[in-house]
Amino acid sequence: MAILKIARMGHPVLRRRAQPIADPTAPQVRRLIGDMIETMADAEGLGIAAPQVHVAARLVVFHVPAETDEAEEKEEAAPLRILINPALEPLTEEMTLGWEGCLSVPGLRGKVPRYDAVRYSATAPDGQSVTWDCEGTHARVVQHEFDHLDGILYPMRMPDLSDLVFESEFKYRAADEAAAPTEEVAARAD
Ligand code: NI
Repeated sequence: MAILKIARMGHPVLRRRAQPIADPTAPQVRRLIGDMIETMADAEGLGIAAPQVHVAARLVVFHVPAETDEAEEKEEAAPLRILINPALEPLTEEMTLGWEGCLSVPGLRGKVPRYDAVRYSATAPDGQSVTWDCEGTHARVVQHEFDHLDGILYPMRMPDLSDLVFESEFKYRAADEAAAPTEEVAARAD
């Protein structure tokens, strides 16, 4: 396995629509998955999409750490998930603004609206079809990662660019919002 170079905002591979993977069980796909997992771990990200390692293919890997919130019917946490040719369907019209980061937009955080709950399906590396319902952080990570497959970076989703801040200054915003607990304050690097 290898740690791959991460494409940063401005590289055309991040704006391209990624192509479906014809054979999810192919050895080169397995190798790419291994490299993406290693690259994600090295960069301390929650997720990474193939275009972020300069491969315009519909493949994402991510994980969502367990939080203190009690998960109900839909999943909040997720172990390592490897999704090939994924599709997504919102389960609600409700969207919530929350802070996100991106390995391809290093050093910044932004506040992005995402659906509160989504259903996603994909092909797993063993060729099986999988479907999950999720909400909260899990749903946010999924929407962020899937956007990478369609050439969308989170700043393109932001309604208010005054919510785009440097990580080093994020503490000021987090402190401001401690008084407004209706919005997520946690920052994510996907
Ligand atoms: Ni990202």
